Amino acid sequence: MRKPLIVGNWKMNTTLSDAVVLTTQIRNAIEDLEADIVLCPPFVWLVPLNDLLEHAPDNLSLGAQNMWFADKGAITGEISPLMLKNLVKYVILGHSERRFHFGESNALINDKVHAALQHGITPILCISELKKIQNEKRGRGRPTFTKLRSDILQQLKMGLKGIGESDITKVIIVFEPVWAISTAPDTKGAASGVYAASVINRLKSYLEEKYGGECAADVTMLYGGSVDASNVAEFLYQPEIDGVLVGSASLKASEFIKICKIAGGPD
Ligand code: PGA
Repeated sequence: MRKPLIVGNWKMNTTLSDAVVLTTQIRNAIEDLEADIVLCPPFVWLVPLNDLLEHAPDNLSLGAQNMWFADKGAITGEISPLMLKNLVKYVILGHSERRFHFGESNALINDKVHAALQHGITPILCISELKKIQNEKRGRGRPTFTKLRSDILQQLKMGLKGIGESDITKVIIVFEPVWAISTAPDTKGAASGVYAASVINRLKSYLEEKYGGECAADVTMLYGGSVDASNVAEFLYQPEIDGVLVGSASLKASEFIKICKIAGGPD
């Protein structure tokens, strides 16, 4: 596994003072870790947090939770890559909550991936297993139909449409089964490490077919869905999984710092 990547997606949470306290605590705890850490606060906190992190350790960066693809224009309520490019290193695109609440299509997400790359922002492309299986949990949520997997492949193929070999290794892919998201405070709804790795392998096979083995091996693959300090090791233990995207557990400094330490602390 390469240096682990831990992404904290704060979603629509935190006041400005929460954001400052959380970021300060994290910044003060992660300097010596062998892990890259990305905080994705709400848009409105990016400017103050960017100032706060001016002299932060190199392994701590900011990401946005979304963006529009055009540089500017009559798109009320949206944020463009031009506005973000000097504030963030990463942008989450195609999160299942965007697909579900805002009907984001694969084509739109693909436009955003291209726009992020054009502006030097690393896209974190989320590939989500469908909502409907929520009613069909088995054990730790493993779905059975192959159909679900093919939808995942469709999201991957369409999300990466037009992305060539020179750019594919700049894209980060997250596998996030929707049935495993937001099961906190009891995070037992997370997928198992083995299941997450098996799906990630399937996604990697597609990347191998399309871009060749060497390129595919260099693409960072994450798992997201109810990750916390009690289960993160199970995901990071899988050689196919390079890191995790953490939602609710990234809002508690002590929990998130624990996750980062498990990922990047001395063995
Ligand atoms: P969660 O969110 O950790 O709260 O389940 C993860 C995600 O949004 O992918």
